[in-house]
Amino acid sequence: MSSIQHLRDIADLNTDNVRTLLSRARFFKDALDNKKDVSDKHRGKVGLSFFVENSTRTRISFEMAALRLGISMIHWDSASSSLSKGESFDDTIETLAALAPDVLIMRHSEYNAPRSVARYMPCPVVNGGDSYRAHPTQALLDLMTIEEHKGDVSKLKIAICGDIAHSRVARSNAALLDMLGADIHMVAPEYLLPQELPYKNATAYTSLDEGIKDCDVVMMLRLQKERMTQGLISSDQDYFNSFGLTHERLKHAKADAVVMHPGPMNRGVEIDNAVADDPHISLIRAQVANGVPMRMAVLDWLLEQNEA
Ligand code: NCD
Repeated sequence: MSSIQHLRDIADLNTDNVRTLLSRARFFKDALDNKKDVSDKHRGKVGLSFFVENSTRTRISFEMAALRLGISMIHWDSASSSLSKGESFDDTIETLAALAPDVLIMRHSEYNAPRSVARYMPCPVVNGGDSYRAHPTQALLDLMTIEEHKGDVSKLKIAICGDIAHSRVARSNAALLDMLGADIHMVAPEYLLPQELPYKNATAYTSLDEGIKDCDVVMMLRLQKERMTQGLISSDQDYFNSFGLTHERLKHAKADAVVMHPGPMNRGVEIDNAVADDPHISLIRAQVANGVPMRMAVLDWLLEQNEA
């Protein structure tokens, strides 16, 4: 089973794979915009989505992507499953594997959970986010959105700002942008900056104003209190005062800089309402919209790889 192509993290991809996914995502976006039915190729396949952590946009956009491709989806709900009857996680996964789905899409709070699940699965496993480690499809849809608005990322300065320590979005984005040669600024207060930044082209900053200086893209992250030890943040207001993105602060970035956020946003904590809702600079809704065609591209490509 080791030859199955999965998407557990960005390390599962090379630059050719990324270019293939971007071009397929553009194809699917065009099909969706023109109401073209693309559900023939994968009709009859059955996918399983298995989200053991809360999600709104990721889960719905994966399911929408699968349905648009003709894949029927079953959503497996951990709360009403045999896990709540005391079955071990491994037994549950072996049971799901025995049912032989065509693809498994999962989100889990445990570090690297998709890697252990993939060992049992007779089909591709797609990571919809695990722990603070990886969220590869978010990074891919962010890349698609950046390229649509700003072109080739190897010519761009991109700031990833906020709670980097607890963010799988930050890690997958940095890994992907690094692979493609972008100039990455990792911007966080000292206590939210990881000890190691294992990227070739990344520089750490602890001041927001300095970190976003001359950047083309400013990507904000949610303060992930559910992953923090208590007392790390004194108050939301203090955090906003030092790290919240306002129009005033954004003047440090390039004059035509765009703003991104993977959602869910905490308005007034990491981002000001006026910035989040500014149609001239905010790509936040465009990111959500691109989630569907990019996840269609990922599912289509993985299924095709495993048929070959
Ligand atoms: C993020 C996630 O769940 O990793 N959201 C998302 O998938 N778009 C970020 C977050 O929780 O802050």
